[in-house]
Amino acid sequence: MSLLTGIRACVFDAYGTIFDFASAAARCTEIPAEQRAALTNLWRDKQLQYTWLRTLQGRYADFWQVTGEALDFTLDSLGIATPTLRSRLMDLYLTLSSFPEVPDTLRRLKKAGFLTAILSNGSPAMLDNAVRNAGLRDLLDAVLSADAVKVFKTHPRVYEYSLQQLGVEAQQVSFQSSNAWDAFAASAFGMHVVWCNRYGQRRERLPGAPEHEVRSLAELPALLASPT
Ligand code: LAC
Repeated sequence: MSLLTGIRACVFDAYGTIFDFASAAARCTEIPAEQRAALTNLWRDKQLQYTWLRTLQGRYADFWQVTGEALDFTLDSLGIATPTLRSRLMDLYLTLSSFPEVPDTLRRLKKAGFLTAILSNGSPAMLDNAVRNAGLRDLLDAVLSADAVKVFKTHPRVYEYSLQQLGVEAQQVSFQSSNAWDAFAASAFGMHVVWCNRYGQRRERLPGAPEHEVRSLAELPALLASPT
């Protein structure tokens, strides 16, 4: 196994990588158990499609709006749309659980001297809530939102924005995402990429090639040579 060398910053996707987006529906006991997975999957699929479609059309709206509109589509599709359920699920999205290995991994990376940051489509308010709720604020040097550049991943401007904010070159970043499309795009952009393939996704047939594939972020520190 080859270590990634020259890395100064570890940059993480948020939803699915740091935060478990399935935890919103899972905590919503008023939804029948057999519908929770369908809700989570369709909500996520629509949310992502809307980010890509809006970016293509040049019609940016922030991730909170997009997430709400994706939820409306989903609740309607499943025939369970009520204002109360909508508002409960949106509230839960602000307090998603982080994956269990996240705090310790961030602590280890900081101790080793790496910069740590989130780079997400999430709006600043969504990310701020989630980060604070999960107790991660002190473990992150920066929480960066695509909202600053008004396009969503996989637009290269989003990845570029993180370099400007952290004062590093693409080759000095190890980018972690559980989303294959995001992992491949960050690699095509020029970052080193560790694909945290939690969901057992297939490789994309898109530009880019993540250098490592892991199942949990706990595997990350061992892949990185200490910063000089
Ligand atoms: C993020 C979503 C897309 O950018 O996972 O955090």
